[in-house]
Amino acid sequence: MGRAGSSTILAGDGFGGVEQGMAGRIPQTFIDELMARIDIVDLVNARVPLKKSGRNYLARCPFHNEKTPSFTVNQEKQLYHCFGCGAGGTAIGFLMDYDHLGFVEAVEDLARITGLEVSRTSDDTSSSAASQQLDGLYEQQKQAAGFYQQQLFDKKVGREAVRYLRRRGIDGQVARRFQLGFAPGGWENLSRQFDARTLRQTGLLVEKDNGRSYDRFRNRIMFPIRDRRGRVAGFGGRVLDDSVPKYLNSPETLIFQKSRQLYGLYELLGDRSHPERILVVEGYMDVIALAQNGVQGSVATLGTAVSVSHLDILFRYTSELVFCFDGDEAGKKAAWRAVEIALSTLKEGRTVRVMLLPSADDPDSFIREHGREAFDQRMAQATLLSDYFFDHLSSGLDLGELESCASLVARARPLISKLPHGVFRDMMQDRLKELAGVESIEFKTVQAKQAAARFGNRTGRSRTKSSAVRVALTLLIHRTSLAGLVDTTDPRLAGASSGGVGLLLKVVEIINEQPRITLSALLERFRGSEQEKGVRQLAETELMVPDDGFEAEFSGALARVLEQESEKRVAQLLEKSGHGGLTENEREELRGLLPSSGGVAD
Ligand code: UTP
Ligand code: MN
Repeated sequence: MGRAGSSTILAGDGFGGVEQGMAGRIPQTFIDELMARIDIVDLVNARVPLKKSGRNYLARCPFHNEKTPSFTVNQEKQLYHCFGCGAGGTAIGFLMDYDHLGFVEAVEDLARITGLEVSRTSDDTSSSAASQQLDGLYEQQKQAAGFYQQQLFDKKVGREAVRYLRRRGIDGQVARRFQLGFAPGGWENLSRQFDARTLRQTGLLVEKDNGRSYDRFRNRIMFPIRDRRGRVAGFGGRVLDDSVPKYLNSPETLIFQKSRQLYGLYELLGDRSHPERILVVEGYMDVIALAQNGVQGSVATLGTAVSVSHLDILFRYTSELVFCFDGDEAGKKAAWRAVEIALSTLKEGRTVRVMLLPSADDPDSFIREHGREAFDQRMAQATLLSDYFFDHLSSGLDLGELESCASLVARARPLISKLPHGVFRDMMQDRLKELAGVESIEFKTVQAKQAAARFGNRTGRSRTKSSAVRVALTLLIHRTSLAGLVDTTDPRLAGASSGGVGLLLKVVEIINEQPRITLSALLERFRGSEQEKGVRQLAETELMVPDDGFEAEFSGALARVLEQESEKRVAQLLEKSGHGGLTENEREELRGLLPSSGGVAD
């Protein structure tokens, strides 16, 4: 059952998650305890002032822009939910999203508030050693960054590098802001002063076949890449001339994962924790040159394409992204690829725009040549993703012709199908119909179906087959004592390991282990698993059942579930017998499942 099946779950924050996994595990029972103690109303109210409204508390949603409040906090369930943007979850989830914390950090903060000591499983004796190792790696990166920086500012050693930076318009203040440095020539500058083993683990030393090692970065301007907490995770290094490779990066290490790091994010958030928008550029030097010229809010990927995890990270801090890639063919390709990636992350309240540059420029050269005002002006005119999308797809097409319209539809349809359901998707669909001049186009609803299968989507409700399980699950989650009514050894349930019935069994198992578990703690058990969203939606459901009606409703739903399961199994067995062979056991089972023939068969 995915990750929820293990007794301890560690969810990364998607940003430097490794150290959390290595730092010892937080036992699930500790989370249970925490969830039972914390009051989400106090927690939220300290950050977003709440108004009491009926049984709930209400505010304007902090996660999207809105005029009328649709953000609710339910004290009884200890959950928050926004009807506008769909954000929602437990106190831990709120803290992660609002304070931009990783899972472990959020747990630690909550523990502090409630006066609990965060316990870590002690059976894993390697964990503290592992976390010490990571501390050692960070410490070493910090010292290396310090060394490089000192070399840059050394009048003799750093002279040429400083001259290079000056030539590119970078001054000492900006160099300090980004902690730029210089790796001097020579093969063993680092190994002479630092521990060789640690240096190999951070990738600063390259090991040769004969066991000897040498400094990876030589004669390069050094760009420390800092994680969200300001720790140096890795480096980029640029040559001072035309030699190749132009840039060299730290290899992937325990503390450095390129697909999850964004250059400049730490520096940017130091200025404003919730910037209005973030500019996404391609190169280290673009970020630096923009900052030098007064545009502080940009980040760069580390020589990799923009990924969904990059965008997820960025949308935690802002609601608008502007892609500003190089004006050449490669940059245009990268922009379109980023747009395709961005499609799946778009929902109400999020905006992506594309800022085009003259074909010979990158953001660095443009702002140096034309200045900040011209840059800002261009940024203000950046194309909305939706416009860019249709412009790109219809370029070269004459939409007066039938064939062209058909090919526009063929190109756009699969991409629009990737969009999450919502207003934005509807709008894109309408726009396509309008452009192509057709009345109706069929859009795949893969996501809707998958979601319904996982009990995630409202459209799934009308499907009567799943509704009995859904009802049973919803009731069970809201009143855990009902678990006692489920006989987990019932053979009719035995076959179900997936889908709704599998989930039901899983929840019963958790409750049997921890009978006093709260609703929010139960939800936490599914963090990071496939069922997380589905369980959350069940937990958010408003029950229209009187207090003394739970048991009867639950028993009824459970009976229907058992009936459906047995019908399914009968159909399965009959189908198999139609194809020739049932084993003796299966024949036995079938006899047991067919009530009318039970006595007659023998
Ligand atoms: P660019 O060549 O556009 O970088 O590559 P840039 O920052 O504009 O370079 P200069 O200093 O102005 O000439 C974009 C990014 O691709 C990665 C780097 O992350 C770079 O910032 N890259 C590029 C490499 O990793 N290796 C290379 O050899 C070149
Ligand atoms: Mn450049």
